Amino acid sequence: MQIQQDLLRFLYLNCFKRLFRQLLKFLPPPTQQDEITMRLDRFLCKQADYSRKTVLALLSQQQIRVDGEVVLHRDHAVTDFSHIEVQGKTIQNTSARYYMLNKPAGILSATTDPVHPTALSLLTSIDTTDLHIAGRLDRATTGLLIVTNDGKWSRKLTALKSIEEPAIPKVYLVETAYGISPTTAQRFKEGIYFKTENFTTRPAQLEIITEKLSRLTIYEGRYHQVKRMFAAVGNRVVDLHREKIGKILLDPNLKLGAFRALTLHEIYWV
Ligand code: URA
Repeated sequence: MQIQQDLLRFLYLNCFKRLFRQLLKFLPPPTQQDEITMRLDRFLCKQADYSRKTVLALLSQQQIRVDGEVVLHRDHAVTDFSHIEVQGKTIQNTSARYYMLNKPAGILSATTDPVHPTALSLLTSIDTTDLHIAGRLDRATTGLLIVTNDGKWSRKLTALKSIEEPAIPKVYLVETAYGISPTTAQRFKEGIYFKTENFTTRPAQLEIITEKLSRLTIYEGRYHQVKRMFAAVGNRVVDLHREKIGKILLDPNLKLGAFRALTLHEIYWV
């Protein structure tokens, strides 16, 4: 009797486990939110040098607040922008910041460089310590450059999307060395194959403005992508200017080298 019951329990558990494993396959993959949150106890040990034992003691004494609320569990998820207080002392209180810069030619899309001036060096009058660039431009390229301290937001803006996901359009004004051939728009629509990455660009739209001037909309941000696309059709880019990323349009009032904070509308569509 006992053996039969054990056997039944074993079969029942196994069946349940298999069902559970099947269900897991249908769950969505971890989101970027999951990637950038951290457990409160890990955060306090790593960033503020508390020992795990001290964190547990502080939690049980209700001495830790996250965004104003007392937290009791060590696995409470925190982000780069959680306001964290321990015994009334602020450990982290960083707010998310977002800017657009009208990048001039000759400026590196980098935070620091020993030789060339960088995009961040143009952001005079603000603290740039925790800022990074969301979607680089080549040194000679001008136009819209986004700078932020919000890694989750910038990953959403720049991440390579799988073919099923909607991709973010990037719009460039392109001047070429030679007249644009009549087949170029069709070639870009079909996608250009990049051998080094074994990758074909998504259908891109080319609007011909004059013989050597065009507006190109692409959906990735591969290395030298626009230059390589034109090179693939036997042309050469001589001037490149980014006008737009998704719904963020380069502010026409921004002179070359000038920057401004993004509006809430520009931040929240991402
Ligand atoms: N494509 C390029 O070739 N260069 C840039 O700076 C941006 C897109």
